[in-house]
Amino acid sequence: MIFDVLTLFPAIFDSFLTQSLLAKALTKGIITVNLINIRDFTSDRHRTADDRPYGGGPGMVLKPEPLGLALESVLAQAPPQRLVINLTPSGRQLDQDLVRELSARPRLILLCGRYEGIDQRVLDVYSNLELSIGDYVLNGGEVPAMVLIEALSRLIAGFLGDEESLLDESYSSGLLEYPHYTRPRVWRNLAVPEILVSGNHAQVAAFRLAEAVAKTRARRPDLLASPDLEKRQAEIFSRPGSPLKPRPDQTQSSPEPTAQSSGHDDRSNQPSPPGQPGQAGQADQPD
Ligand code: ADE
Repeated sequence: MIFDVLTLFPAIFDSFLTQSLLAKALTKGIITVNLINIRDFTSDRHRTADDRPYGGGPGMVLKPEPLGLALESVLAQAPPQRLVINLTPSGRQLDQDLVRELSARPRLILLCGRYEGIDQRVLDVYSNLELSIGDYVLNGGEVPAMVLIEALSRLIAGFLGDEESLLDESYSSGLLEYPHYTRPRVWRNLAVPEILVSGNHAQVAAFRLAEAVAKTRARRPDLLASPDLEKRQAEIFSRPGSPLKPRPDQTQSSPEPTAQSSGHDDRSNQPSPPGQPGQAGQADQPD
């Protein structure tokens, strides 16, 4: 999937794109992120990309010429299924359904407005979607663009390892996630729920589902009322390897965290030094 990010501040993306899973995905070519500096498309000595609003009022507005030229340079190479997305607090609010929908697109062109926004004429001509990441106002579209890139990338095949993909399915189940625990079994007098160390996978699955439902009821009862919930649950919990449903080959077994659930070596009760693959130290770094 290709992201083109049109911004006045490309350096904001530097650490975001050079760390962790996103850096790996970029190296592997699973995603491509092109950073386009709108200022490179200005033609005056001062590289002016903004101007005062007609009609008066506070702040500045992104000028149509440089942004229009920047956009046209990207559109010239983009397939017809591409989408131009303007990140703005007055857009449609992003949620996981929309993330899923957008992940089917081969290329997204993200406009990061700053100041009061973008000259409306550019948006009228080119914007396909006005998108908000929530009901609050940020300094510009850069952080929302990062949110969108990360949320979408997670859905692309090969971005997450197998273990994380399974967990991801439970996010998509329409319920909030059940609580997670890892070693030690008792921390500051607080014990891990007994059922999780029972080794009974069916009971663990039932416990997790009950916890997920209780948490969702307490925090987001609106999700339980969603007409999609039952359909989504049936679809997800019936998949082989679903974290909320035991696989047919799973019977009562190890009482320790399994490799699948935590990445730990289940023969040892002792945390291992940080940084050793598949061992307890990894728990500090979910990536
Ligand atoms: N730009 C500023 N605030 C924003 C928000 N909440 N969502 C998307 N773009 C924005």
